[in-house]
Amino acid sequence: MDSIDLRSDTVTQPTGEMRRAMAAAEVGDDVYGDDPTVRRLEELAAETLGKKAALFVPSGTMGNQLAIMTHTRRGDEVIAGENAHIVVHEAGAPAILSGVNLRTIKTPDGVLTGAMVEKAIRPQDIHCPPTGLVEVENALPGGTVVPLAAMGEVYRVASYQHSIPVHLDGARIFNAAVALKVKAKEIANHADSVMFCVSKGLCAPVGSLLAGREDFIARARKNRKILGGGMRQCGILAAAGIIAVETMTQRLEEDHENARYLAGRLLELPGVELDLSRVQINMVFFSLDSGRLSEVEFVEAMGREGIRIGGTEDGLYRFVTHWGVTRKDVDRTVETMGRILSGTGLK
Ligand SMILES: Cc1ncc(COP(=O)(O)O)c(C=O)c1O
Repeated sequence: MDSIDLRSDTVTQPTGEMRRAMAAAEVGDDVYGDDPTVRRLEELAAETLGKKAALFVPSGTMGNQLAIMTHTRRGDEVIAGENAHIVVHEAGAPAILSGVNLRTIKTPDGVLTGAMVEKAIRPQDIHCPPTGLVEVENALPGGTVVPLAAMGEVYRVASYQHSIPVHLDGARIFNAAVALKVKAKEIANHADSVMFCVSKGLCAPVGSLLAGREDFIARARKNRKILGGGMRQCGILAAAGIIAVETMTQRLEEDHENARYLAGRLLELPGVELDLSRVQINMVFFSLDSGRLSEVEFVEAMGREGIRIGGTEDGLYRFVTHWGVTRKDVDRTVETMGRILSGTGLK
């Protein structure tokens, strides 16, 4: 029985085409700027996002942290939504690596507005930390997307009115682009720098890209060296990244359709509550009353049936569809859940 892994799209395996391209990749020492495959991926990323330059980095976290380090000075304040990845899931790195404070904003749905940012920007006052950066996300970690108008408003306030740079955590920018029915560069247009990952739903084994102006990327390259992120013959990895950007971005709608289908079918089960309008990319969040089964028992019972899921965060399970999850896998998941839950006394 094949296993189904719904924990994240980071579990995706490199495709056959990727493995062949990796084996054949022309490589060089990228710290000397000698790796032609890395250079090709960086040029492709910059062009795709409408930026002047890009830098290949080992992870999304490093891309975000390099952006913070490169845009800010120690003691600056960074404005971000309270649930932003850099706030919740990067282990306090902004303080550790860049010496910055995080000014977190409570947002009803994860969407920062121009008015919220305007209010949070510090005045030029001897008592206040200078606001050095505004950080936005699209898609949001909660599986929804931010309308371009909201992003444009934030960019206008931060950049045009206050000369404060904006960094976009676009780990899943191509999912956001599919959901918003726009090109990724139209989203990236509302930020000075953008990070996106090739290692998630795009199936490359490793890597993210940070894109922005040439001088910004040159400084980020030096900061990447400081963090130990210079990777030598990493064209082997970039070769998969090129296929991720050129090919795998074209099939994400299938994952979104599977997520919507999964959400609809989950609603057939007892004890499931979810908001279909919030299923906008490849993620389904839902609460579940699993009766006499505890959360741990439920997760383990699914695991015994070959279906890997994570536990809840803030009371919600998250199932993620990706290249390794077919429509049949979705059906098997829901049917298996139905069987497990039917033994719990729920109606
Ligand atoms: C929104 C967002 N930003 C950044 C990251 C960090 O990426 P990585 O795991 O490659 O460090 C993730 C990872 O899941 C993410 O979901």
